Amino acid sequence: MTIDPDTFRSVLAQWPSGVSVVTTVAGDGWHGMTASSFSSVSVDPPLILVCLNRRITTHALIEASGVFAVSVLAKDQTVIGRRFAGQERVADRFAGGAWQTRVTGAPVLTDAVGWLDCRVVHAYAGGDHTIFVGAVLGAATERVVAPLLFHSRAWGQLADVLPDAVGVADSGLLSALRHHAVPAGAAGTLATALRAAGVRVRVRDPHGCLTSAGDRRTATALVATADEVADAALGGAGVLELPAGDTSGGAAGTRHILEEARRYDMTAACWLPDAFAPARAGEVLAAVDALAALGCDEIGLDEGAEAASPRQVRALLQDATVRASTSPRPVSLRVRLRDRHGLGLVNALTAMKSGVRHFDTTLGGIDGVLACEDVQFLADRLGVACDSPRAALVAAAADLERHLGGALPGRTYRVPIS
Ligand SMILES: Cc1cc2nc3c(=O)[nH]c(=O)nc-3n(C[C@H](O)[C@H](O)[C@H](O)COP(=O)(O)O)c2cc1C
Repeated sequence: MTIDPDTFRSVLAQWPSGVSVVTTVAGDGWHGMTASSFSSVSVDPPLILVCLNRRITTHALIEASGVFAVSVLAKDQTVIGRRFAGQERVADRFAGGAWQTRVTGAPVLTDAVGWLDCRVVHAYAGGDHTIFVGAVLGAATERVVAPLLFHSRAWGQLADVLPDAVGVADSGLLSALRHHAVPAGAAGTLATALRAAGVRVRVRDPHGCLTSAGDRRTATALVATADEVADAALGGAGVLELPAGDTSGGAAGTRHILEEARRYDMTAACWLPDAFAPARAGEVLAAVDALAALGCDEIGLDEGAEAASPRQVRALLQDATVRASTSPRPVSLRVRLRDRHGLGLVNALTAMKSGVRHFDTTLGGIDGVLACEDVQFLADRLGVACDSPRAALVAAAADLERHLGGALPGRTYRVPIS
């Protein structure tokens, strides 16, 4: 059977891939091209391959130099991908980029997702291409962000799939009820009802506590110092929350609290304030790395004072989720989103699609944070499972409404249960 070249290319175009730039050194100069044919070959010894057209300049130069480097492009490096594919006419493909040599003299892109520096150990003929197998002499993951993809002749990014399930926690009720002067007995009943519905509830903070009998995994305590950990654990909390930027003693203070949490077999969640403010993105991502390295189990990203847009939520989470899942000790991310300008649930959807599965909320949305029953409602409408049954959350919201004597900010608690 003769294969029509157009059909052949169309089929190959359906194969999604990452995008790399393959570079080499020629005399005093550098040369490079965009390549998606990069593949791993062997772990021990570390070998990779690229498959290059025999007619292109890079092919001849790699044959001559015997070395090449592969830089894996990040989601924001489409321009580099185009330029090294010859789709943009430029005098120098390397101009303005962060290129440096490492081991072999072939340049690597130091703000790529990662790079590999190689010496050619095999060159196999493959029709009009050559398969160059390289022994890896140097490698680094420079900037842990989402990669650039190529599919159907278009540049793209990883698809936003929804999670299978989400969980809701309530970290606002305790202080909000105190603010509204709701008696501790009534507040305790509400917290117990939520916990029975599988909602993790903050039952303790430096200003007071609610009855915390029951499954300790559903009871959290907010602490600021290591001295408070023992009381929280003995009081029945199985989860410790700490404001990462605000613990006395900085990193040493945080480390001490985390050690205490481990001593009492508690899960530790560190909160980062104003997490989606674009000006803080670098700081927040660095804090995610640092907290993961310190041994935090969970990192909470709190929208805080500056209203976040879906675009900002997406930009931050896309990188934060990659870092959290690839850190040497993986941590789970949680978000606490406000319901501002009608964008609260849009931001929640964006967070779900960016890989977040844990939402910190407040029953009825009474402190401006997204209502737990609203996040459950959204999950339900998206076909995403949520451990907390809607009936229980709606009943708790109705109870809260009675205590406060007026309608709650939450949007869905009055929607009839179908
Ligand atoms: C996404 C993408 C992936 C590519 N992958 C390869 C590849 O794996 N091998 C190859 O020979 N050419 C590949 N090309 C084409 C080369 O990048 C292109 O021919 C380039 O201009 C060669 O540059 P040079 O002649 O200066 O070496 C790819 C192009 C694009 C847009």
